[in-house]
Amino acid sequence: MRKIIIDTDPGQDDAVAILLALASPELDVLGITCTAGNVELELTIVNACKICELADRPETLVFGGEAKPILRPLVTAKHVHGKTGLDGTDLPYPKMRISKDHAVDFIIDALLASKNKEITLCALGPLTNIAVAMTKEPKIKSKIDRIILMGGGFFEGGNITPAAEFNIFVDPEAASIVINSGVKIVMMPLDVTHKVLATKSFIEEVSSMGTNVGNGVAGLLNFFGRYDSKKYGSDGAPLHDPNVIAFLLEPDYYSGKEINVDIELKSDLTLGMTVADWWEITDKPKNVYFVRNVNAGLVLEMLITRLRTLP
Ligand code: RIB
Ligand code: CA
Repeated sequence: MRKIIIDTDPGQDDAVAILLALASPELDVLGITCTAGNVELELTIVNACKICELADRPETLVFGGEAKPILRPLVTAKHVHGKTGLDGTDLPYPKMRISKDHAVDFIIDALLASKNKEITLCALGPLTNIAVAMTKEPKIKSKIDRIILMGGGFFEGGNITPAAEFNIFVDPEAASIVINSGVKIVMMPLDVTHKVLATKSFIEEVSSMGTNVGNGVAGLLNFFGRYDSKKYGSDGAPLHDPNVIAFLLEPDYYSGKEINVDIELKSDLTLGMTVADWWEITDKPKNVYFVRNVNAGLVLEMLITRLRTLP
């Protein structure tokens, strides 16, 4: 089993990623650490618990983390995800216990207690928790197997500004700390996530499961799809975050290249831009495996197959 920690800001697409992880016996979800992003921290914590209870996994460890970016005020994405962050379905307020420890301390303690390269961090939101953990205890960097993160965009541009993708834009300093940390990074940017769409037929297949998870995910994706379908003129919204878990399960569904990626921290115009040296123009260190292509049909098929196993 592959041990993972999911760092997340649920969000409808985060929800699908968490459900995919919980439905995958190959993965041992050590904990879910929440950060502010799509909505405020207190909501992302509640949303993470709602998703665990939807999957009938109330024993999952859920931790609250950083309530705001390292240096900047929080920018949310309520215009996309709705005011709760999980608009589109009415999941009951969770009964499960929220861990009292801070997410950053859980990440540090879990990594220090683990064997080398035993734990993969799956980052689905702004990278504040992970950057703070690395800064508070630099020893964890050598313990991390890999960080697989949804974030960035280069050929596709940005989604919260013309230049920047949301997760990176919210906390660009945190993103810079993480991708320049020397830890192995797999980046799932908009360039690949925009190729995996929650189409009408996909949502119909999810809904036809007739299960709590099927009904919940169909409601979430119908709501989530309205904004991006209109913006991009596409059949459904990109399923960003599930690609992080899908890559872990089936890396051969994806392809990319080890390149240098750095983050713009100074310009107001391009703040949070992931400057990807895809054509290897510079001799800067190749710090990121930048994923650009995917067999989207196989990813969607895996999602259906695994979500079907949940109640
Ligand atoms: O830009 C897409 C990312 O921002 C996804 O992780 C989505 O959940 C939001 O957090
Ligand atoms: Ca997210």
